[in-house]
Amino acid sequence: MIGFTEFRKTRVRFSDTGKGRAIVLLHGFPEAMDVWEEFSVKLSRHFRVIAIDLPGCGETPCIGYVHSMELMAECVKAVLDSLGLRRYVMVGHSMGGYVALAFTELFPDHLSGLCLFHSHPYADSPEKKVDREKAVVLVKKDPKHYVNEVITSLFAPDNLSLFKDDVRELKQIARRTTRQGIVNALEGMKERPKRDWLLKYAGYPVLLILGKMDRIVPNELLLQQTSGLKHIQTLMLEKAGHMGFIEEKKLTQDKLIRFARKCFSRSSKK
Ligand code: MLT
Repeated sequence: MIGFTEFRKTRVRFSDTGKGRAIVLLHGFPEAMDVWEEFSVKLSRHFRVIAIDLPGCGETPCIGYVHSMELMAECVKAVLDSLGLRRYVMVGHSMGGYVALAFTELFPDHLSGLCLFHSHPYADSPEKKVDREKAVVLVKKDPKHYVNEVITSLFAPDNLSLFKDDVRELKQIARRTTRQGIVNALEGMKERPKRDWLLKYAGYPVLLILGKMDRIVPNELLLQQTSGLKHIQTLMLEKAGHMGFIEEKKLTQDKLIRFARKCFSRSSKK
C-alpha cells in the first residue's frame, strides 16, 4: 500500500508491502522510492518492506532550502514511528546511505542492521564541494539535461545498453524531482560531516555492497578502513557501477535476504 505521514507540515509518501520484520529502503539522488519497486517484490515475500520518498524527491515536497542528511533522517524516523516500528534493517543507496548514517547517529537503538548500498561514510572533498556548486548552476539552467547526465554516469558503461529500459525508467523517475528538490539535496550532501567512526563502532551487523565500476564510492579507501572489522561484511559486484540493485538484481536481492535474516536472528537472541 501507499501511505502518507505528516512531517514538519509536509506529506511524506511511503510504500509498505509484505509482512514480518521490517526492512527500510532509502533511495539515492536524484531518485524516489519507485526505484525500489521491482527490487522489493522478492524482499517482501520474506519481510515487511518500507520505502520512503525523501524530502524533495518523488511526491514528498521540499522542506526549506537545504535537505541536510539529519533532516532527511528525522523525516524517515517520523514515517517509521507512524507505522509503530521499533527495530529494522536499514538499507541506504548512495545518498540514502548518507541519510541512514545520520539516522544511526541520531537513533542508534532502532537498528538491527545497516546496509550501505554503493554508499560511504566520508564527507565531500573540497573538489567535490566545488562540483556540487557547479551542479547547482547546471540544474538551475537545465534540470532535464543535468538529470540525464547524472543517471547515465551511474551505470557501468557496458550496462547502459544491456539495461536500456531500466535506464530510461530511472531517468523518468529522476525527472520528476523538482529543480528545488535537486538543489536542496546537493546542498545537504555538500555540508554532511564524515561518519566513519559510526561504521567502526556499530553495535549491529553492517553490509557494504560495492560496484567494481562505481565512479562515486571510494571503494579502495572503504575496504582498507573496514578490513578486519568482524561486524562488517562486503559484497563486491564485479559487473556493476553504482546501480547494483538493477545491474546485479538477483545477486543483491539474495544477499540482502540472507543478511537481514542474520540481523534479525541475532537481535531476537538479545
Ligand atoms: C547518489 O547516487 O545518491 C549520489 O550520486 C551520491 C553523491 O552524489 O554523493
